[in-house]
Amino acid sequence: MQDEPTTSVPSLTSRERVRRAFAMEPVDHPPVWFMRQAGRYLPEYRAIRAKVSFEELCRSPELSCEVTLQPLDRFPLDVAIVFSDILTVPEAMGLNVVFDTGHGPELSPVVRTPDDIKRLVHPDVSAALKIVPETLRLFKAARPETPIFGFAGAPWTLFCYMVEGRGGKDWLNAKKLLWTEPKLASELLGRIADTVGDYLQLQIDAGAEAVQMFDTWAGVLSADDYRRFALPAVQRAWSRVKGAGTAGGAPRMYFMRDSSATMPVLRETGADAFAIDWAADMAHARATLGAVPLQGNLDPLALFAPEETIREKVRGIIAAAGPVGHIFNLGHGVVPETPISGVHAMVDEVRRTRFAI
Ligand code: CP3
Repeated sequence: MQDEPTTSVPSLTSRERVRRAFAMEPVDHPPVWFMRQAGRYLPEYRAIRAKVSFEELCRSPELSCEVTLQPLDRFPLDVAIVFSDILTVPEAMGLNVVFDTGHGPELSPVVRTPDDIKRLVHPDVSAALKIVPETLRLFKAARPETPIFGFAGAPWTLFCYMVEGRGGKDWLNAKKLLWTEPKLASELLGRIADTVGDYLQLQIDAGAEAVQMFDTWAGVLSADDYRRFALPAVQRAWSRVKGAGTAGGAPRMYFMRDSSATMPVLRETGADAFAIDWAADMAHARATLGAVPLQGNLDPLALFAPEETIREKVRGIIAAAGPVGHIFNLGHGVVPETPISGVHAMVDEVRRTRFAI
């Protein structure tokens, strides 16, 4: 096909562009969306949050759908991500989760002993987490032309919050549990993995075109501990989710931050696609991971740079990822102070790309 002239470049629909990116087929330009695209950098999101708490927002399918739509009304994005939070899973497993603390979410009681683990429930996700499939259905009725992704936290990342009881940086208690009670830690990771897997499949059943597992804190583990603890839990979660090319399935994408140490192991997670953090080099990720769909990976803080710098960085990432199997995204979530103009420049530059198809 490469030898054929490409005088007229047909424009793909978002759904076709996304499908082709996951299938490693040619596209006119990479599909584009970004993590935390519905959130506090948008004045219209802040207007809703002035009226309702984050918890109320997550408990209302109508409001969640409205917020999911907000970034699509501003930017020509190819993908929506269903609005919710990764901490609804620990909540469904029996923990109390409070978001509006002024210093990040708090979970109680913490899970550190065999008795703590026994108290956890294995929820029927279709009942305990039904808001998200309801939101997906509302979204699909409102905006059938835009693909929507579902998501969940990865077992290790949820383990961090459940053991620690709050956000952290070094996750000392979570790591201590791995080393002092390895069997207990693996049991807890396995319990979380089962719920995460069921929850992701529930979202696919409700029409999510792909699902993303956020392993935000996997990068704090050495490659050895990652392999021993976090990796088997990811594999166990995926074993309950029908992947790309399977009847009733959808592409399963895996994101971790600080992936440099574990990059060679990532293929073993069994994911169909990988979201690359901004600190990793996209060309290196392509060389290491090979011919698989990759997503990413602009530094979210680059959106504060001058417009021409943003555009240059976008072009560099697209060139490094190559023309097939790339979904453009940030390398982590957009931050609340981000200028809207920076987002416009990023999205526009991706859409200006013209590949021969
Ligand atoms: O990407 C999207 O637009 C979808 C919605 C989404 C949220 N959180 C909404 C949210 C997604 C995919 C998440 C994932 C999430 N939540 C992760 C993994 C990805 C990442 O960013 O690392 C983690 C670790 C969390 C846990 C969490 N939720 C924290 C630490 C916080 C507080 C810090 C913060 O950023 O505000 C939240 C709250 C949260 N989740 C907000 C949003 C929009 C802000 C709540 C508010 O409106 O005040």
